[in-house]
Amino acid sequence: MSEVSKDNWVQVGRLEDIPRLGSRVVESAAGELALFRTSDDQLFALLNRCPHKRGPLADGIVHGHRVTCPLHNWVLELENGEVVAPDVGCAPSYPVRLDGDVVYLSLEPAAGCSEKSAA
Ligand code: FES
Repeated sequence: MSEVSKDNWVQVGRLEDIPRLGSRVVESAAGELALFRTSDDQLFALLNRCPHKRGPLADGIVHGHRVTCPLHNWVLELENGEVVAPDVGCAPSYPVRLDGDVVYLSLEPAAGCSEKSAA
């Protein structure tokens, strides 16, 4: 990654670099981040580590604004990383913004998730 601005936004590529209903992994000081693109071209980023047993969320199935973990099928909200009931947990989420077709990712996690886990 390059071009870290003083407010911690980094340019991570272009919208077309991320397939619809797919993801890209971005390396950061906080660890791997999974950058998701939904069918309606919304972008979301979560720590690439399922709160259950650390499954790689970037390899999961994107549906709606959710992702299903590839290991044991927990479902997480892309918006905030919260695990959908009946499972309990949270993966830290990171703000994403588009400027034209250029994607920027904030390396400051959004508030509200302490990566708690029921496991
Ligand atoms: S590691 Fe994700 S559901 Fe188990």
